[in-house]
Amino acid sequence: MPRVLRGVGELDTRCELLGETLEHPVLLAPTGYNLLFHPEGERATARGAADAGAVLVLSSVATLGIEETAAAAPARLWFQLYFQRDRDFTRRLLARAEAAGCRALVLTVDTPVLGARDRERRAGFRLPRGVRAENLVGASKDLAHGHSWSEDGIYSPLSDPTLTWETVAWLREQTRLPLVLKGVLAPDDARRAVEAGAAGIIVSNHGGRNLDTAVAAIAALPAVAVAVAGRVPVLFDGGVRRGTDIVKSPAPGARAVMIGRPYLWGLAVDGAAGVERVVKMLVTELKSAMALCGTPKLADIGRELVRGSGTRGPLDPGAAGS
Ligand SMILES: Cc1cc2nc3c(=O)[nH]c(=O)nc-3n(C[C@H](O)[C@H](O)[C@H](O)COP(=O)(O)O)c2cc1C
Repeated sequence: MPRVLRGVGELDTRCELLGETLEHPVLLAPTGYNLLFHPEGERATARGAADAGAVLVLSSVATLGIEETAAAAPARLWFQLYFQRDRDFTRRLLARAEAAGCRALVLTVDTPVLGARDRERRAGFRLPRGVRAENLVGASKDLAHGHSWSEDGIYSPLSDPTLTWETVAWLREQTRLPLVLKGVLAPDDARRAVEAGAAGIIVSNHGGRNLDTAVAAIAALPAVAVAVAGRVPVLFDGGVRRGTDIVKSPAPGARAVMIGRPYLWGLAVDGAAGVERVVKMLVTELKSAMALCGTPKLADIGRELVRGSGTRGPLDPGAAGS
């Protein structure tokens, strides 16, 4: 519900997150194996992120070491963790992320096993020669071949499937970085995450890549935000494609958004410049949408911008017209 005559000559897209002020609320979600998209891989992603003033959440299954990625560009880096069965290995990984200057640790909690990835399976997907998860070398020999779902088992070399809230508590003891949980959809899990000391929550269904028929992140967001009640920032990802998607995200309770596929498309087309271009396009679109909505300051956007964005969510037919 756009408003008018509010003076939108100055637009402020800044966003406070984990004690830092970001120029805009678009973060690059962790995506594995960037070398599959461009010969420069994560080096290009990091440069593009830096040039666009975006935080890059570096995947555990990146094809470039944490240290090399950090050295490639002065991007703000967060590190995404697929918790490894070998806890000593996990601990060493955390130490590397801290030493490389990563500012937050994002624990992905929605992938204890892989979902049914039919197209990968049909295509017989295997990592090409020379492409491997550099940071996990030594953790699991299976990772050398990628991690496609197979008919003979749901075992995934990516992550430890025995993860519980106790593991989250253990993890908190091991690091001084703020811990953000990625892949939360249920309000009770969000509440529990805050109680467990999470510094942030990312509402996500992994871009629809894990559990078919899972609730869409945008539909889950309002109830999670109510459960969290402003105690920690809530982010969301999945299907963010235009500035208009971003301008609406604070209404159901998101402080910032992350994008996955859009920057990978940019990376595939034009390396670092492509990543930068995609983020800048989104930020320009966001500014235009803020002006057209009569909301010159991102931080001031509230629930009233989206009709019916209460606990039931804007997509709930029951909320229509309220
Ligand atoms: C190719 C690809 C690789 C991904 N790899 C990871 C990963 O390593 N770790 C992770 O937590 N999420 C991973 N994701 C999920 C993204 O972080 C994010 O949740 C999702 O892509 C957001 O949806 P969007 O692509 O619609 O923007 C991946 C997504 C894609 C498309």
